[in-house]
Amino acid sequence: KLEETWMIVSVIILVIFMAIVGYQTFALGMGPPSNKDIIDPQKVDEQAPFDEPGVFEVGENKYEVVMTLETFAFNPGDIEVPVGAEVEFIMTSKDVSHGIQIPGTNLNAMVLPGHIQRITQVFNEPGEYLILCNEYCGIGHQAMFTKITVK
Ligand code: CUA
Repeated sequence: KLEETWMIVSVIILVIFMAIVGYQTFALGMGPPSNKDIIDPQKVDEQAPFDEPGVFEVGENKYEVVMTLETFAFNPGDIEVPVGAEVEFIMTSKDVSHGIQIPGTNLNAMVLPGHIQRITQVFNEPGEYLILCNEYCGIGHQAMFTKITVK
């Protein structure tokens, strides 16, 4: 009789755990990527921080570059940051899959619609760096580039 009770209790506990895991996974979207990395690609312009793309000083020697990618442009283009500053690029795509690569640095990543990509880069050498799309994104892919000036 006692064994029967314990059996029922353990089954109930199991069911509760499964329900919690299921709820977290599907209802809360806790599986990777996390919610803060997700954005509606149809409404990028209306959602912070992408409603205001640009270069922002956010702390001592710290900058944020809020950037949108679309066929076939980076917005903003022609960025300027100081030498040695910590620059966080916060990016998303407004249409198809793009990539960002800055030759001469380790910065190389995909930028996908619906997803926010964050990468921090420090530029220790002054100069002009090319920013280019390295993911085939259509007929204008070759022309999708801009530059960042470090000084
Ligand atoms: Cu964008 Cu290739």
